[in-house]
Formats: sequence, C-alpha cells, structure tokens
Amino acid sequence: MKHLTNKQISFVIKPILFLVCLFPFLLLVLDALNDSLGVNPVETLTHETGQWALRFLLLTLFITPLRRLTKVQWLIKLRRMLGLYTFFYAALHFITYIWLDQFFDWLEILSDIPKRPFITIGFASFLLLMLLALTSTNKMQRRLKKKWVTLHKLVYVIPMLVVLHFIWSLKVDYLEPMLYTIVFLGLMLTRFFHDKKKASKT
Ligand code: HEM
Repeated sequence: MKHLTNKQISFVIKPILFLVCLFPFLLLVLDALNDSLGVNPVETLTHETGQWALRFLLLTLFITPLRRLTKVQWLIKLRRMLGLYTFFYAALHFITYIWLDQFFDWLEILSDIPKRPFITIGFASFLLLMLLALTSTNKMQRRLKKKWVTLHKLVYVIPMLVVLHFIWSLKVDYLEPMLYTIVFLGLMLTRFFHDKKKASKT
C-alpha cells in the first residue's frame, strides 16, 4: 500500500474515498425520506451538515501529518477531495439555513448575517471555504503560483472561525466544540514541531 500507481489511486482509492465521504449525506437523505430526522428535522439537518463540514475540514488538515508519519506519499493526492467535501457539507449546511430555516426570505437573511455574530462568522468561513474550493484546481494552482500557497494557508484560519461559530451558537454544554478545538490544536502542534525541526536542519 505504500507505493501505488497513479492508475490505482485514480481508479480504486479515489472512487472508494468518494463513496465513503458521500455516506453521511446519503444517510441524511435516507433519514429524511423515512421521516427519521427526529422531532426537529431542520435542527438535525443543520447540526449534522455543520458537524460533517467541520469533521471534513479537520480530516483535510490531518492528511499532511499522516503522510509524514506513515511516509505514504500518495495520501496527499486525497487532500483536495476531502477539502471539496468540506465545502460540499458546508454548502448543504448553508442551504438548510436559507431554505428550511429562513424560507428564502433574502431580506431577513441579509439582515440576520450582520446581526447575529455566530452567523456572521459562519458566513465568513463559508466564503473563505468557497474561495479555496474555487481555486483548488491544478490550473488555478499553476496560475496563482506562490500566491496559491499563501491563499491556501487560510485552511488553518477557517477551523478557528468555525469552532468560534460553533461555540457562539450554543447556550450551554461546550464539550463538543472543545473536543474539535483539541483535535485542531493537536494538528497545529504537529505542524509547529515539523517546521521547527526543518528550520533547525537549515
Ligand atoms: C454559511 C454560513 C453559515 C450559516 C448561516 C450557519 C448557520 C448555523 C446555524 C443556524 C447553526 C445552528 C445553531 C443552533 O443550534 O441554534 C449552526 C451550527 C453549526 N455550524 Fe454553521 N453556519 C454557517 C457556516 C458554517 C460553516 C462554514 C461550518 C463548517 C465548516 C459550520 C459548522 C457548524 C457547526 C459545527 C455547528 C454546530 C452544530 C451542532 O450544534 O451540532 N457552519 N450553523
């Protein structure tokens, strides 16, 4: 498994990962069709899509330390798909809000975004995620060159905004966002130690 050909990655690993990542969405669709989303389906959809977006964001960040740890180089080829899935679940989360929470009342939505700080910060994270998704192609990477690397460093800022969005959306029980924060800080620490080791070698 350490060395796979491009063909094996493109025709085996990537399609499997694609289906696995789609699974939470399919489960939500199934639950919606079977009327099994609980007493408050809109709340369930908002929470599930928001949490899956955050989980995929952290999974995307996990790829680089995992590659360094295992020395399995092809793992990096899966990062873009995980990033795009983050955007997919964030878009579903936003659509749930626009459609099922606000009933496409655009004036209400436009006044809600600046009014409630947790919505403001959620919207800002969504816009940043969209920017990363739109510039994620090889063509954009080639076109933007060094700017692309700088731009994609936003991937470290977005989880902070999202965790804040999560905390501010709650009135009690901060355990869940705290767990996500610990995972994020762990990922940042691995990056910090890696950069420090690299700097001491040069
Ligand atoms: C597009 C702008 C966004 C809007 C309008 C929005 C809206 C909401 C709302 C209404 C809630 C539920 C709050 C409650 O229970 O009272 C929520 C929770 C949450 N959102 Fe967002 N959100 C946005 C962006 C994001 C993004 C980009 C992410 C992740 C990448 C995200 C992740 C979460 C999480 C993890 C929760 C908590 C879920 C839970 O309590 O289980 N949100 N958001």
